[in-house]
Amino acid sequence: MSRIAYVNGTYRPHGEASVHIEDRGFQFADGVYEVWGVFDGRLADFDGHMTRLERSLTELAMALPMSRAALTLVLKETVRRNKVRDGLVYIQVTRGTARRDHVFPAPGTPPSVVVTARSVDRRAQLARAQKGVAVITRPDIRWGRCDIKTVGLLPNVLAKQAAREAGAAEAWLVDSDGLVTEGGSTNAWIVDEHGVLRTRDTGANILRGITRAAVMALAPEHQIRIEERAFSVDEARRAREAFFTAASAFVTPVISIDGQRVGDGKPGPVTRALAEAYLANASASAI
Ligand code: PDD
Repeated sequence: MSRIAYVNGTYRPHGEASVHIEDRGFQFADGVYEVWGVFDGRLADFDGHMTRLERSLTELAMALPMSRAALTLVLKETVRRNKVRDGLVYIQVTRGTARRDHVFPAPGTPPSVVVTARSVDRRAQLARAQKGVAVITRPDIRWGRCDIKTVGLLPNVLAKQAAREAGAAEAWLVDSDGLVTEGGSTNAWIVDEHGVLRTRDTGANILRGITRAAVMALAPEHQIRIEERAFSVDEARRAREAFFTAASAFVTPVISIDGQRVGDGKPGPVTRALAEAYLANASASAI
């Protein structure tokens, strides 16, 4: 089926959709993005992702390129035109096209807006998640504002490529104190030796994951003790369970870290309970 992309006001065949060579996203990575999971044609965790998009833009002195209502329509229309039942929808917003100069372009320069949607084989994805995946660790070499979801993802790209080459699904990034910050495109979690669910606090240099927030909200209903507290690679290796979260990965069990088995090498009960609860909740509340 031919895919359709939204680019600056028009829907175009995917292969013909493009932005200018002097787009600031291309020249400087001067832009942000956002990703929603799609369940049965509807967008999951809608408000959370939209609010984070607004925040990312505000932090970079950019405005939402159109009203929230109009943007919602564009996101849904892109999903509809691509006939996505289960999948992902992406938006990229850059500071627009202008002669190459580091400083911001003249006020009034229109932003560039791209929306794409793609299907995901949900059954295969869930089957993979049921078995659990491997992660490796890499030094976190990113800039100091990872709370902003910018399109500047080169350290993430390199870490995830290293993971791929090592036969792993994700790279957990480790700061100079030996503590895990997050994954290349996911938030990192463990159930520690004492049974406490832990993930890095948002005061650290991480993306404030929307899936992370949803899972945090679900934990108390399952009588799971949760702490936003850093953990070391060593603690992760000794953990009972480990997993990562993202709009594209939901709750994915981690069964090995740097080739060393986590727990008994199978997805654990806390991870499985949270994965199930997250999926049920996300699909029921999708709009
Ligand atoms: N990645 N940390 C990083 C660095 C991420 O890129 C992402 C999301 C997350 C999880 O955030 P959320 O739960 O809001 O999806 C954490 C998206 C899916 C991506 O880059 O495709």
